[in-house]
Amino acid sequence: MSAVVLVGAQWGDEGKGKITDFLAREANCVARYQGGSNAGHTVEVGNDKFMLHLIPSGILYPDTLCIVGNGVVVDMQKLNEEIAGLQKRGIDCNNLRISLRSPVVMPYHKKIDELEDRHTKIGTTKRGIGPAYADKTNRIGFRIGDILGGHDCFKERFKAQVEYKNLIIKEIYQEEGFNYQELLDQVMEQAESLRKYVADTSYLLYSAIKAGQKVLFEGAQGTLLDIDHGTYPYVTSSHPIAGGACVGTGIGPTFIDRVIGIAKAYTTRVGEGPFPTELHGAEGEYLRQKGAEFGTTTGRPRRCGWLDAVILRYAVRINGLTDLAITKLDVLDEFASLKICTAYRYKGELLYEFPDNLSILEECEPEYIEIPGWQKDISGVTSLEELPVQARDYIAKIEELAGVKQAVVAVGPNRKQTIVSHNMFD
Ligand code: IMP
Repeated sequence: MSAVVLVGAQWGDEGKGKITDFLAREANCVARYQGGSNAGHTVEVGNDKFMLHLIPSGILYPDTLCIVGNGVVVDMQKLNEEIAGLQKRGIDCNNLRISLRSPVVMPYHKKIDELEDRHTKIGTTKRGIGPAYADKTNRIGFRIGDILGGHDCFKERFKAQVEYKNLIIKEIYQEEGFNYQELLDQVMEQAESLRKYVADTSYLLYSAIKAGQKVLFEGAQGTLLDIDHGTYPYVTSSHPIAGGACVGTGIGPTFIDRVIGIAKAYTTRVGEGPFPTELHGAEGEYLRQKGAEFGTTTGRPRRCGWLDAVILRYAVRINGLTDLAITKLDVLDEFASLKICTAYRYKGELLYEFPDNLSILEECEPEYIEIPGWQKDISGVTSLEELPVQARDYIAKIEELAGVKQAVVAVGPNRKQTIVSHNMFD
């Protein structure tokens, strides 16, 4: 096996950064395939904490090729800042490659995202993600390669686009627009400092796979934030699902060997939208505090609730999951009893499949099973056998309800607090 996709099985924030970082130790190549600086990964190494937004977690390993694929929308200013921040801490980033085809998040995208969200109330991260993907699909976006080419036709298209965006910003929102020349100089300079990293990343990945190297596709966000298969319209504008790895890097599906779904031992979501197992009282607040459930990118408090197996089964189906990685199990240490949602009750009927209609989901009540808690500190446990029997039962129940076995269980934020059942590149 050589090519593994890691995807979020819930609404994002499942602890993907930690698992990616763990696997990146073995991988020859790590690739991001969608999203942008709306993602936030915290990787802890010893006492050091690294916050990554656009750069794949593998960057901490100098021999691991790290790829920002064509499916990622790149905020060049943020990317340059992230590179500079890492370099200051001794990580040279010479192993970073960015697709020539990556669309750029322009300052006007961020402005419009903020202005529009006041009306649409999706609760976006205000990082310009939606407007940048919309322009890409509308064929009025700009790729890094276009800017680096610096041709007159790019400048003409860009000028027209700045004028058009200024019309929207000034006429609809009565706010100040952008100066074309200043913006052009700014994006040309930002692109120039990224030039040394820009490459044909699809070919690099293809070559790595053909050479039998271990390649990791690192998803951001999660299954339920997918633009097509998530809880639309409360979703992001890209494809966090496993299928997105192919489109977002230029690699065919037959090259993928394994798909690992990362699921938190409970559920969280940020932003608006239905969330059947959400806990509004003290238990939800406890999960938020103990699990440090505050957005890496925006600092927003995350909504918290019990584990939802209906969602996990859906993630298994949509992504073709072969394994689960269960994270943050230690956050549940103190509960005397735990709940898992096994089905939804909708107008007196039991639903076992995740509804494809948001108005149905909004009216669903969770049906729970209750499982005894372990009430022990498991943060120092290094093998499944050492876990209290109740914790093993909780894991076994998740596996049974999801229909997929776990390959990894995380019991704390540090790299060492990761129990691996089998090698994922095998
Ligand atoms: P956008 O991706 O900024 O357009 O935001 C759209 C929705 O996706 C909002 O509900 C965000 O809170 C959510 N979202 C975007 N990125 C993440 C993430 O990394 N984790 C969790 N939610 C996210």
